[in-house]
Amino acid sequence: MSFPWAEHYEPKHPLMRWIDQRLPLPRLVYNAVGAGYPVPRNLNYFWNFGVLAGFALVLQIVTGIVLAMHYAANTAVAFDSVEHIMRNVNSGWLLRYAHANGASFFFIVVYIHIFRGLYYGSYKPPREVVWMLGLVIFLLMMATAFMGYVLPWGQMSFWGATVITNLFSAIPVVGDAIVSWLLGGFAVDNAALNRFFSLHFLLPFVIAGVVILHIWALHIPGSSNPTGVEVKGPQDTLPFHPYYTAKDGFGLGVFLIALALMVFFAPNFLGHADNYIKANPLSTPAHIVPEWYFWPFYAILRAFTVDFLWIPAKLWGVLAMFAAILLLFFLPWLDKSPVRSGSYRPLFKQFFWLLVIDVLILGYCGGAPAEEPYVRISQFASAYYFAHFLIILPLIARIEKPLPLPNSISESVLHGERREAAPIGAASASAAE
Ligand code: HEM
Repeated sequence: MSFPWAEHYEPKHPLMRWIDQRLPLPRLVYNAVGAGYPVPRNLNYFWNFGVLAGFALVLQIVTGIVLAMHYAANTAVAFDSVEHIMRNVNSGWLLRYAHANGASFFFIVVYIHIFRGLYYGSYKPPREVVWMLGLVIFLLMMATAFMGYVLPWGQMSFWGATVITNLFSAIPVVGDAIVSWLLGGFAVDNAALNRFFSLHFLLPFVIAGVVILHIWALHIPGSSNPTGVEVKGPQDTLPFHPYYTAKDGFGLGVFLIALALMVFFAPNFLGHADNYIKANPLSTPAHIVPEWYFWPFYAILRAFTVDFLWIPAKLWGVLAMFAAILLLFFLPWLDKSPVRSGSYRPLFKQFFWLLVIDVLILGYCGGAPAEEPYVRISQFASAYYFAHFLIILPLIARIEKPLPLPNSISESVLHGERREAAPIGAASASAAE
């Protein structure tokens, strides 16, 4: 922690002092999420989403561990074991629906968290490593969610896994060998289901480890804020506790209400009906779609329909899909504008919203059948996605005229107040005369 005015930990209770002297865990918590961590005083509700993502991760781990006590990772019984959870296990339906919808909510929260970072330039120095660790988390989340969806062994589980693992066969020479190695056989079968279950159990803990690094890296410079102007002194910050624990607590309440509405009133809204049909390798569903949170990337994958430069269309699709995420690792160096926050970047702001619309269009096309006009729209939207990061952002950084920045966070916060306070002060001053 680099803020000299941070409050120092003084254990009040003798038991706490005893523990702190032997294992300074209370000190660590106090300095990480307690009164000992000064945070910019102007954070808006978009800064709630990191904590919400952390909560969603814990919820997935807790519900997942209990589900694993009743689930059987064997192709002969996997589907029935999920039905057994839904019908026979006490509150099993609740656990399963909380876990399945919890995954969707985790992605909603993380997508908002990422777009917050994109708008407010959180990826810029000195938080590049925070951003890159976030992307590692995102990749791990995608792998975890993909493997989790295979476990109920429904039609979409089986065919989704078949389509996605087969993508690796597009890699020249070694592609087919890689697919067999990944699956532990020549098709998605028992060996694949078993390893997917094993990895689906392991990866959330790896994610938790990377989250610790993510927050550690964040706590070196401290959080950014909506102005993008760095903290200059104690007048710019508030202790994390009680100010942001209260604000995060409120956000958590809203999150839980929304999740409860989904779990209790529309638990299958985000799922696919075909996954309530047991996996059948002899019957291909008419329309194979992944879960909604993969749709933008699925659209990029399917946007490539012709072979060119001796590379087959399928391989182009796979490369583009991975490139769409890997590209984000270079974002701190693609956007060189010295102004961090989108609020002071008029041109950047417009293109930011175009990117949001573009990703929504990609998402819509990814969930639609692979036919016209969706394929053509996906092609334009994919091209725009890459152009945004590779051409538009570097160009804007050169030509844009940013708005004047406030001198400090406290100035930006107190500005309005001072203006309002002035007439009262002026009135009392004139009365005194
Ligand atoms: C399990 C997933 C994640 C968890 C638990 C998590 C947690 C957090 C927390 C608690 C914060 C501080 C509060 C806040 O700024 O909202 C934070 C900040 C941040 N996160 Fe994440 N995060 C996750 C995923 C990601 C991803 C996928 C990215 C980007 C690709 C990312 C990028 C960032 C950045 C850049 C900041 C600093 C924001 C700023 O100060 O302006 N995070 N994260």
